[in-house]
Amino acid sequence: MAARSSIAIIGAGSVGSAIAYSLLLRQVVADIILVDIDQNLCQAQVQDLSDATFLSNVRIRQGGVAEAQKADIIIITAGAKQRPGDTRLDLIDRNFKVLKSILHSLQPIRSDAILLIVANPVDVLTLFAQRLSGLPKSQVFGSGTLLDSTRLTNILAGKLKVADYSIHSFVIGEHGDSQCVAWSAATVHGTPLLKIIPLTEAEREEIATTTRQKAENIIKVKGFTSYGVAAVTSRICEAIIFDHRSVMPLSHWQENLDCCLSLPAVLGRDGIISTFPLHLDEKEQTFLADSANGLRKVIADYKEEL
Ligand SMILES: NC(=O)c1ccc[n+]([C@@H]2O[C@H](COP(=O)([O-])OP(=O)(O)OC[C@H]3O[C@@H](n4cnc5c(N)ncnc54)[C@H](O)[C@@H]3O)[C@@H](O)[C@H]2O)c1
Repeated sequence: MAARSSIAIIGAGSVGSAIAYSLLLRQVVADIILVDIDQNLCQAQVQDLSDATFLSNVRIRQGGVAEAQKADIIIITAGAKQRPGDTRLDLIDRNFKVLKSILHSLQPIRSDAILLIVANPVDVLTLFAQRLSGLPKSQVFGSGTLLDSTRLTNILAGKLKVADYSIHSFVIGEHGDSQCVAWSAATVHGTPLLKIIPLTEAEREEIATTTRQKAENIIKVKGFTSYGVAAVTSRICEAIIFDHRSVMPLSHWQENLDCCLSLPAVLGRDGIISTFPLHLDEKEQTFLADSANGLRKVIADYKEEL
């Protein structure tokens, strides 16, 4: 476990508490601080989670903004979640206000802190957080399509009957309805995936749709998703704390697209080190441009407030 490291999670609901659970089981940091506007809920989550700390020696406690300000990584999950039928973009008004008030109360924020946005719509909130936090853009990013990519990889691994980690496949663009599968960049242990399994256009579309709609199907029944996002968030935190330089699709600033969206990024202790080049075919480039276009339109409505 990394020495003297701490992670603050703001928002101790279904997602925040699952992230804390995942971080403590994987011993990513020594200290986890849970913060929520609902003090009673936060206290109960900490009590419940502390029953699991015997497995890992990680310390977990309830905190306020003053403690969160000092953390190495601050994860933001606070905000409204989708109701059945909502798109992630439907959450924007409510979650912009929540994010704004949290970032205001976090000032002065540690200049080397990493701000990891998980609340939705994650791409738009990541851009807002970059503008409002005062931190360098490389230190403010979102979990983006890492979760969608693990969903995609899992489907492909099932078809190929190989372990998920033998496949490199990415969902890029918006963590939402305009996301796109980068089929031309998918490989299995270095061999182009479509050479091994020549999926038809219709089969590819079906896999992309299943990937995109997975969250909605879960939300319809249990009201929220939490385990997958918790697992990918702890993977992101590991890459930061241990300076792994892992390449993963994360929502980060794209100068040429003038917004934040997911493309593979190299991630280490200082945050996003670079965008990893991805060779997309023409159709994928068009999808990505459309995804960026949609996000820019949404952001434009908030120009005055940033
Ligand atoms: N990025 C992803 O892949 C992904 C996946 C799943 C969910 N999410 C998003 O995560 C967010 C949280 O989902 P959830 O299921 O945990 O919701 P939830 O309602 O269970 O939890 C949200 C928590 O935020 C708290 N909160 C609200 N305003 C706050 C403030 N100003 N300060 C501190 N705490 C505050 C609430 O009290 C609540 O406990 C949603 O926006 C959801 O869409 C993202």
